[in-house]
Amino acid sequence: MRLAGKVALITGAAAGVEGQLMGFGGAAARLFARRKVPGVVLTDIKEEMGFKTAEQIRAKWWEALFVRHDVTSEEEWQRSSKTTIATFGRLNVLVNNAGAGARFTVEETTVAVWDAQNGRARQRCVPRHEICHSRDA
Ligand SMILES: NC(=O)c1ccc[n+]([C@@H]2O[C@H](COP(=O)([O-])OP(=O)(O)OC[C@H]3O[C@@H](n4cnc5c(N)ncnc54)[C@H](O)[C@@H]3O)[C@@H](O)[C@H]2O)c1
Repeated sequence: MRLAGKVALITGAAAGVEGQLMGFGGAAARLFARRKVPGVVLTDIKEEMGFKTAEQIRAKWWEALFVRHDVTSEEEWQRSSKTTIATFGRLNVLVNNAGAGARFTVEETTVAVWDAQNGRARQRCVPRHEICHSRDA
């Protein structure tokens, strides 16, 4: 099994509450937990939902932790990767899922919307901290 022994961090993973519309990140967190990986860290800006999803995963399957993490913030990338390593001893897999849809036509798309979706904000997501830790693990 390819996930065996792996510690994963999944961004945009709040939406995984049972009985509610599930996002890709929340569903991925549940998939990892079902495989009983040593640890899965869910991150998102939606704290209440994120804590609830992690709590349900812990109750049903395995070790799961929620960390508040805005992927446009360099500092919050550092904090989430440090918390993962401090809690589970390593970080092997990153599911860089966080994002938001913007339903605009080409004519309506402003530079700010374009940047938020594709440009500067996503560049700041480049998970350098996670890559360094994974390489060493
Ligand atoms: N659902 C689709 O059809 C579809 C199609 C193409 C791409 N995507 C992309 O796939 C990913 C997951 O989609 P989904 O349908 O599960 O969406 P979703 O809205 O259920 O999940 C995305 C999560 O990202 C979080 N998020 C948004 N901005 C954030 C930020 N700055 N920092 C941290 N978290 C943030 C949201 O709070 C949300 O919980 C998104 O990146 C989306 O853009 C989805």
